[in-house]
Amino acid sequence: MRTRTLGTTGPQVSALGLGCMGMSALYGDADRAESVATIHAALDAGVTLLDTGDFYAMGHNEMLIGEALRTAPAALREKALTSVKFGALRDPDGNWSGYDGRPAAVRNFAAYSLQRLGVDHIDVYRIARLDPEVPIEETVGAISELVEKGYVRHIGLSEVGADTIRRAAATAPIADLQIEYSLISRSIEREILPATRELGIGITAYGVLSRGLISGHFSRDRQLAPTDFRAHSPRFQGDNLQHNLNLVEALREIAGRKGVTVAQTAIAWVVSRGEDIVPLVGARTRERLGESLGALEVTLDEADLTAIEEAVPADAAAGDRYPTVQMAHLDSER
Ligand SMILES: NC(=O)c1ccc[n+]([C@@H]2O[C@H](COP(=O)([O-])OP(=O)(O)OC[C@H]3O[C@@H](n4cnc5c(N)ncnc54)[C@H](OP(=O)(O)O)[C@@H]3O)[C@@H](O)[C@H]2O)c1
Repeated sequence: MRTRTLGTTGPQVSALGLGCMGMSALYGDADRAESVATIHAALDAGVTLLDTGDFYAMGHNEMLIGEALRTAPAALREKALTSVKFGALRDPDGNWSGYDGRPAAVRNFAAYSLQRLGVDHIDVYRIARLDPEVPIEETVGAISELVEKGYVRHIGLSEVGADTIRRAAATAPIADLQIEYSLISRSIEREILPATRELGIGITAYGVLSRGLISGHFSRDRQLAPTDFRAHSPRFQGDNLQHNLNLVEALREIAGRKGVTVAQTAIAWVVSRGEDIVPLVGARTRERLGESLGALEVTLDEADLTAIEEAVPADAAAGDRYPTVQMAHLDSER
C-alpha cells in the first residue's frame, strides 16, 4: 500500500482511506456483517485510515468501527488510525438541529467517541461544520487541550473556507482538511487548495464518487429510500441527474479504453491531483472496496487527463452538491 502524509504535521496514512458513513447511514440499508468484513479487508489490504462521525446514525458508525477493531487481528488493529468528526446535533427522530463547537461540548463529544470506538485516543479529530456561534479558535483550542492530554493525536478541519483555515492554523497545527473533492466537485481549487498548500495542511477528500453518482454503477432506475441523502440531493434529481449521468457515460468511454472501471478512473483522478490529497472512499462491501483499491494501480497520463477534462469540464455538474439548507452550513462555500 502506498502512503501519504497528512500535511506537514499529520500522520502517515494509506494513500486511500475508508469512509465508513454509508455502513450506518445516509445511503439506505447496509449489511452489518459485510460492513465489518469490509473494514477487516481494508485493514488487511493496508488501508490504515478509517473515517467516521459521532453523528452517523447517532453513534452506530463508531460502535461498528469499534466492533471491527476489536475483532481484527492485533497487528492490523494497531495500524488503524481513526478520523472522527463531531459537533452535529441530532434529535431522537434523527433530525439535524445545528452544531456545537463550544469547548465543553468538544470534551463531551470526545469522551463518548472514545468509549464507542473502544480506543484510548482518536488520531484525527475535527468539527464537522463550523459552529457559527463559536470562534474556530475556541473549538480548535479545545481539541489542542485533548492533544496535550493524549486523547487526540492530530487536529483536522471539515468543510471550512480559506479564512477559517488560516485562523485555525494560527491557533494550532492542523493535519488535514476534510472536504468534498471529485471530478464534479472542484470548488476547492479556487481558494481552499492554495491555502492548505501554503499552510502545509493535507486534504482528505470525500465524495470522490459524488456519493455513487459518478461510480458508473448508478442509474435512473435506482430506488432510493426517503432517508437516503441522494433522494434530496440536487444532483440526483430529474434533468440534473440525466445531465450528470451523461457525463458518466463520457467518462465510461475513457475508462473503457484504459481497461479500467469508471469508479477507478474517478478515484485515480483525485489521487493524481497531488501528494497532499488522500481520497476517502465510501465502500461498504468487499467488492466495492476491491474496485476502489484497484484505482491505486491506474496511472493517468497527460493524454488521459486531457481527455477526462474534456469529457467532464470543471463546472460540468448540474445541481449543487448539497440541498440548499445544508449548503448554507458550508463555510467552504461562502
Ligand atoms: N466531512 C464531511 O462533511 C463528509 C461528508 C460526507 C462524507 N464524509 C466521509 O467521507 C466518506 C466517503 O464519502 P461518500 O461515502 O459520500 O463517498 P463516495 O465514495 O463518493 O460514495 C459512496 C457511494 O458510492 C457508491 N459506490 C459505487 N462504486 C463504488 C466503489 N467502487 N467504491 C466505493 N463506493 C462505490 C457506494 O455504493 P453502494 O450503494 O453500492 O454501497 C456508495 O453509495 C464517508 O464515508 C464519510 O466518512 C465526510
